[in-house]
Amino acid sequence: MKILGIESSCDETAAAVVEDGQKILSNVVATQIPFHEVYNGVVPEIASRKHAEWILPVVRQALKEADLCLADIDAVAATNRPGLMGSLLVGLTFGKTLAWASGKPFIAVNHMLGHLYAAHLVQQIDYPYLGLLVSGGHTIICKVLNFDELEILGTTIDDSVGEAFDKVAKFYGLGYPGGVIIDKLAKNGSPEAAHFPVPKIDKGEHRYDVSFSGLKTAVIHQRDMFWNDSYEKTAENMCAAFQETACRTITSRLFRAVEDTGISTVVAGGGVAANSRLRALLAEKKELNCIFPPLKLCGDNGAMIAGVAYHFLKRGDRSGWNTTASARIPQFKRGLKR
Ligand code: KG4
Ligand code: ZN
Repeated sequence: MKILGIESSCDETAAAVVEDGQKILSNVVATQIPFHEVYNGVVPEIASRKHAEWILPVVRQALKEADLCLADIDAVAATNRPGLMGSLLVGLTFGKTLAWASGKPFIAVNHMLGHLYAAHLVQQIDYPYLGLLVSGGHTIICKVLNFDELEILGTTIDDSVGEAFDKVAKFYGLGYPGGVIIDKLAKNGSPEAAHFPVPKIDKGEHRYDVSFSGLKTAVIHQRDMFWNDSYEKTAENMCAAFQETACRTITSRLFRAVEDTGISTVVAGGGVAANSRLRALLAEKKELNCIFPPLKLCGDNGAMIAGVAYHFLKRGDRSGWNTTASARIPQFKRGLKR
């Protein structure tokens, strides 16, 4: 079964064709970075306009690279939540219209299920496992029982980890997107250069929760208070120290979840899963089976959407023509099953 997957939730216009939820026949990602980097962040209005301009050529390119025409496609899928409303609407409306006009089934896909599925595109992974979703909008530690069945254990109580990377980079004028740049600069810095505070949310329902707004404030407004004076105040040192704290904040809660649940397979997904320090910290834990998607599948792409859609379709699920977009996912709260 060949599925065309469309993704337009933020600032990448993407489309891919995936066969049987596994084999990537094409994966086209048109990045809008040059249009947003002058503003040091995503401008929603520019993002939706670029999606509207690019969606057709991107979908055509995905079909061309897969050496297929529309008639060869069995179903169309598109991200419908969460994300920027205007951006989501472009891909969703395009996908629904294409499916309706060509008489094919349509599947709306939750973007975060897509991120979790990215690693499944390159290897067979059995359920259950622990999911680590780290992106620009979310930070989630969950028990994953099936491709669409998550039990949220912990989440951020304020900013997402990706947002912290982006805001720190923006404040210091390092560029956009912040995560990639901080990761790169941190390679030439020392994590010992500053000891930023680690959030102390431990008790009761917060056992697996994380927080990044305090760290963000400390790095931006109180850097000197936490600086280790034996180190020079370079961007490289600041990035290394910030990144170390951000990554250890995540791993401390993740390791706790591993211990409590006895589940030792961890599958990561989302843009921050590309972070080299996070990958290294998890690789050090030899008792864990940590699975990361390849770098090009960590960020937003259409292949992960087509991959998830295959499983919905196989189960007989379809989305109606009245399916709408939503900026947030209220189900992503602790203790609730999706
Ligand atoms: O998954 P994604 O592409 O979009 C969302 O669904 O939000 O994630 C984007 C986020 C941005 O915050 C970006 O700075 C971050 O992922 N990111 C990274 C790295 N590459 C991208 N953060 C840390 N290290 C990286 N290497
Ligand atoms: Zn994403």
